[in-house]
Amino acid sequence: MESMGALRRTHTCNDLNADCLEQETILMGWVLRRRDHGGVIFIDLRDRWGITQVVFNPEINPEVHAKAHKLRSEWVIAVRGRVCKRPDDMENPKLPTGSIEVYVDELRILNTSETPPFPLDEEVEISDTLRLQYRYMDLRRPEVANNLILRHKAIQTVRNYLNDNEFLEVETPMLTRSTPEGARDYLVPSRVHAGKFFALPQSPQLFKQILMISGMDRYYQIVKCFRDEDLRADRQPEFTQIDMELSFVSEEEIISIIEGMIFNLFKEIRGHEPQLPIQRMPYDEAIRRFGTDRPDTRFALELVDLTEPLRGCGFKVFETVIAKGGVVKAINAKGCANFSRKDLDDLTDYAGRFGARGMAWIKIKEDEWQSPITKFFNEQEINAMAQALDAQPGDLILFGADKPGVVHQVLAELRLELARRLELVDENSFNFLWVTDFPLLEYDEDQKRYTAVHHPFTAPFEEHMELLESDPGAVKSRAYDLVLNGNEIGGGSIRIHSPLMQKTVFKALGIGDEEAQEKFGFLLRALELGAPPHGGIAFGVDRLMMLLTGSSSIRDVIAFPKTQKATCPLTEAPSSVARKQLTELHLRPDWKEKN
Ligand code: AMO
Ligand code: AMP
Repeated sequence: MESMGALRRTHTCNDLNADCLEQETILMGWVLRRRDHGGVIFIDLRDRWGITQVVFNPEINPEVHAKAHKLRSEWVIAVRGRVCKRPDDMENPKLPTGSIEVYVDELRILNTSETPPFPLDEEVEISDTLRLQYRYMDLRRPEVANNLILRHKAIQTVRNYLNDNEFLEVETPMLTRSTPEGARDYLVPSRVHAGKFFALPQSPQLFKQILMISGMDRYYQIVKCFRDEDLRADRQPEFTQIDMELSFVSEEEIISIIEGMIFNLFKEIRGHEPQLPIQRMPYDEAIRRFGTDRPDTRFALELVDLTEPLRGCGFKVFETVIAKGGVVKAINAKGCANFSRKDLDDLTDYAGRFGARGMAWIKIKEDEWQSPITKFFNEQEINAMAQALDAQPGDLILFGADKPGVVHQVLAELRLELARRLELVDENSFNFLWVTDFPLLEYDEDQKRYTAVHHPFTAPFEEHMELLESDPGAVKSRAYDLVLNGNEIGGGSIRIHSPLMQKTVFKALGIGDEEAQEKFGFLLRALELGAPPHGGIAFGVDRLMMLLTGSSSIRDVIAFPKTQKATCPLTEAPSSVARKQLTELHLRPDWKEKN
């Protein structure tokens, strides 16, 4: 190993081109590849910025050439040399440095490396666990590093926009009380107060509201949030929000500021100018047409309600479901009448994963409706279905019959699966949609009570307040979600700023005065001391970056993400701790320790 000595880097590995011929340069970086071409050694030298080809020629400098023989993948080196034009047939137009190479006069080996756990210069399948265990190697690969670079740029764009619009960046505590965003808390035991716990914030929701009550007027924070929930490709236990709150505003002002932010972001980062204003759709319509509150509107395949035309029909499955208050809905998969038995079985299995008890289908052929269930319908029913579905020869109709919640979930997922199979989506398009007018509450069958669809601080429509006791499920809220290509990238609302209304909503949620005081007394008190009307929104940065970079998982845009099982293979967290630490925290474990 050698030291850098007096050598100082003059260029990055992406800087040199035909304008720099004959310059002396000092580069530092990693050995990506070494090629030995009949005596001449070529090294692809890599750093964060790019790759430069460096050349060791035995005829020009035999000593340095001999030393270059030792170099292996991922060794760290410094080279001093001269920028030369590559022979015409050796140019690489794909690289910014592809027309030059550096003839080396001096080589220093700053560090060696053992054989990398996986090759960095080839497209090979590497398991996620191995990638995360050696994340520092993984991050040396430009595909992965570029996601972090893009993320940095995106965050700067957002910060600049918000700074220009009078937002103040304020930090809020990580050790705090539970904020109800619907997930389980990560808890931190207090050493000082036996038996008491901090919760890591699921979001800064209450602090940002309190900052409005403090008169800050416009707040933002790029902030970590923690939620102990089951993980998916778009969920991590700790994730980042662009969190915002504004005073003296209505939905319209918030939406317009956000649209400006999104426009800037997509223009700067992707060169794409989203069409403004972004289309809006009430929640009820989204559910009715797409079965979900985050519809991917890049393709049609809409849900068609056949409940009324099929009420009392001869097909027992449908008839029974409808008689019990359920619904029958269908999707017309245009041009899919040629699906095989296996295709249909696969789709039925797929639907089953989301709770479907079956998936009736009809193939529309030139001369007949081919299906085991056609015989159960009379002419009037057939005609009504044909009309509602715009059924043409060549089409395939897929049915869902069950409680509305089940049918919507099943058909929403079938819709996405069909779009994937039929390659209906243009992967380069960005389709934004505001979903508005959410219900305030939804009935939780397990808990046998109403829970908040967003969080308990969301303002109901004032004119719906009187329904809060008589028909809680019918109360709509002043909440809005921003959906991009079928992903919920952000959500927010106008908040309750009246202490009375807040208590009333707590009551509807089954939170009595005493519990409200115990858990949210500080908020209720603050609301009594001059709370301005306010509202806000939070964006999922990781989801936004996943979509901006075209990644398939949010793990690809997080430097050190957790696995599906909420572990970190790099540090092997979570880990055991010493008994003494537990004792200090007043915790008495009852699990069996290994050994
Ligand atoms: P919400 O719970 O909708 O709202 O969260 C806002 C956005 O954060 C992202 N998100 C996640 N991203 C990755 N992993 C997760 N586990 C995860 N959970 C949520 C989503 C989501 O749209 N305090 C409110 C905001 C407000 O009302 O202003 C809140 O947290 O993209
Ligand atoms: P069965 O009478 O159970 O043989 O079902 C006849 C057809 O109806 C099959 O194609 C089933 O997949 C379908 N089917 C059964 N239950 C449902 C349901 N709840 N929703 C949609 N299709 C169903």
